[in-house]
This record gives sequence, structure tokens and C-alpha cells, in this order.
Amino acid sequence: MSADSTPLQSSAVINEAVQTLRDGGLVAFPTETVYGLGADAKNPEAINKIFSAKGRPSNHPLIVHLAAPDKFDQTQVDWVPVLAPWVRDLSEDALKLVNTFWPGPLTLVFKKDKSVLNELTGGQDTVAIRAPAHPMAQELLRRFKSGVVAPSANRFGRVSPTSAADVRNEFEGTLDLMVLDGGDCALGIESTIIDMSSGNKAILLRPGVITPSEILAKTGVQVYQVGQTVSAHDDTNLASALPRVSGSLKAHYAPNTPLRLYAPGRVLDALSEFPDTKSRVAVAVWDSESSLGEDGHPSVHFEEVEVPSDSAGFASLLYRSLRDLDQQGWDLMLFPEPPAGEEWDGVRDRLQRACFGSGPSSSSHASN
Ligand code: TXA
Ligand code: MG
Repeated sequence: MSADSTPLQSSAVINEAVQTLRDGGLVAFPTETVYGLGADAKNPEAINKIFSAKGRPSNHPLIVHLAAPDKFDQTQVDWVPVLAPWVRDLSEDALKLVNTFWPGPLTLVFKKDKSVLNELTGGQDTVAIRAPAHPMAQELLRRFKSGVVAPSANRFGRVSPTSAADVRNEFEGTLDLMVLDGGDCALGIESTIIDMSSGNKAILLRPGVITPSEILAKTGVQVYQVGQTVSAHDDTNLASALPRVSGSLKAHYAPNTPLRLYAPGRVLDALSEFPDTKSRVAVAVWDSESSLGEDGHPSVHFEEVEVPSDSAGFASLLYRSLRDLDQQGWDLMLFPEPPAGEEWDGVRDRLQRACFGSGPSSSSHASN
């Protein structure tokens, strides 16, 4: 669906959403990554509503979402006027990234313009910005004519929503929320975040579908990993200069059901942590490949759930699978360890944090 073919019947609904934002309300909306919980980026009270709705600490900064310039044909686009009210020090490298990947699943962190509210940056002097590619998000932003802050539309620390129904379930009974329904999110994990605010170094803060190799190949910009040595003459540990990223907390994206990973073909080993369980265990397996073996496990009832074996397919269904399985009342969920390779970094990151925070008692150490 292109921006121009947003269904007519949703036009009035989008206008209502714009009015809700202008009135200081919250609107959940689809993006190509996950659903966002949006508020007017210029309204401190509206921003505070996001933090209380999510139960998120107010010093965790939010991403500002912006509309693409009118004609987003790559050859004609000028993003500078779009960014100018929000950022200072727009480097050449940052502009290359913007021109190549926006609108799309890439968030960039810049030094902020002084007009950007401290409420949204958690008091930091940087601001995270992205232009989402989803046509309904773009339509909303275009009509709103200003920035919309939007974290993932989930309670702090829990699994991010990839459908309108997920958002409704997440806040049911706790929040009267307008939810724009743009179908299932195509990519399924949150945007790649790159910090462009520290001089000329591009630093990966959160892996996503857009990888450092793709960025290097398409723009020539080298993206550094946290802790990576920048050059033989500069062994600064980049982590010390990093701003806060709640998605980087160890426990995150967490289901209520305990979640563990298993090495290829080693499902039974993964159960050794749960020796006494008379359990019902859901085992995610790569397409049609059984990992359980003939004998199974004497005290455990297994059921297999197929998951795609390519990184993009797996990412698109990861949160969907975690949410669905979480609601089915399993005692344990086992997921295959993602293989080595940069294209798997995004899902590996989410799965590891989801494992760490999973289980009914996780709320005390979960985040975002
Ligand atoms: O795909 C996405 O990015 C989704 C959709 C809705 O756009 N949004 C999203 O927002 O994932 P959220 O709030 O769940 O995660 C944003 C992350 C947080 O970990 C936050 O700490 C980090 O971005 N962040 C925001 N502003 C930052 C800044 N100035 N410096 C460093 N990190 C920042
Ligand atoms: Mg989030």
C-alpha cells in the first residue's frame, strides 16, 4: 500500500487521531517495525502520559517520528529542512544515512536543538529521530505537521506489539486509547539505532534489520559496535560515552512464561535446568525440522511450533510467537539459538533479553 492509497475509510479516522494528538492525547499507530504509542513531541503533559501509561522511568528517552518530505523520490528529497528544527550538527555521514534509509527502520541520535523538550530526551542533550516507512504512520505524521514521540506500545519491559490487537490487549482496562489499525508489522523488531552525536563516529546502540554491513555497503559509513576499538591510535571504550538506551537493559522484551534458548538439536539439554518439571513445553523449531528426537523426555509434554529459518521471516514473527505462546499457558518456551551472522544480531539481541527477563517474577528486573 503506498502513501497515496491509504484507504478512504481510514481518512476520517486519521483526522480523529491527529485531533487526539493535538488535544494532548495518546494514539497508538502502526510502523513497519512495531506499533508505537504516540504523543505530541511538543507537549510535555502528553509526553508524561506515555511514561505513566507504560510504567517507564521518565529518564528513558523517546524517539521523535517525523514525516518524510512531500515527494519521497530518493533523488529529490531534501531532509535538511525536516531535521533542522530538531537537531544541530547534522554531519555529512548522518545525512548519507538519512538519504539512503529514510523513511525506514533506522533511528539516528543527534545533538538536539535547544527547543527539544527535556521530557522526551530524559534530560540528555541528544535526540533520537526516525521517519517510519509505514504509509499509515506517514499519513498521520504528514497531517499532524510536527513530531510525534512514540515508544513501542507495550508496558515497560514486555514484548513489543506487532498488531493493533496486541496493543489493545496490552493496555486493556488500564488506558482509554485510540489505536490506528494498519495490519501486522512487516519487520517485527524495533528499528536499528545509531548514535551520530559523538563527533564523526557512528555507533550502533541497538541492532535491527538494517545492519552495519548494509550501511557500509550503501553509504561507505563505518558503524562501530559498543566496546569496539575505533582505530589503532584510539582505544576509547565507546560504551563510556553512550547515552541511556532502555532497550539495552539486560532484561527486556520479556514474556511471562519462562523462555530459554537451545543449541541446534539440543532441546533435551536445555531442559536440564528444569529436571523435575512435569511440564508442558512449547518448542519453536526451524521450518519442519524436528529437534526433539524419538524418545522425547519422560516427564515433559512437548509441542513443536514452526518458526521461519531466515532472519527476516523469524524477526517478523518473533514477538507474535512469544505473545501467542505466552497466552497459551505453557510452563516453558524453548527457542532455537539464532545462528552466527550479522543479519541475526537483531533477533539474537531481542531473544537473549527476552530470556533474561522472562517468567512471572520478572517484573522486578525487566525494563522498557
Ligand atoms: O522501531 C522503533 O524504533 C519503535 C517504533 C514505534 O518506532 N520504537 C521504539 O521505541 O522501539 P522505544 O522507546 O521502545 O525504544 C527506543 C529506544 C529506547 O531504548 C531509548 O532509550 C532509545 O531508543 N533512545 C531514545 N532517545 C535516545 C537518545 N537520545 N540517545 C540514546 N538512545 C535513545
Ligand atoms: Mg520498546
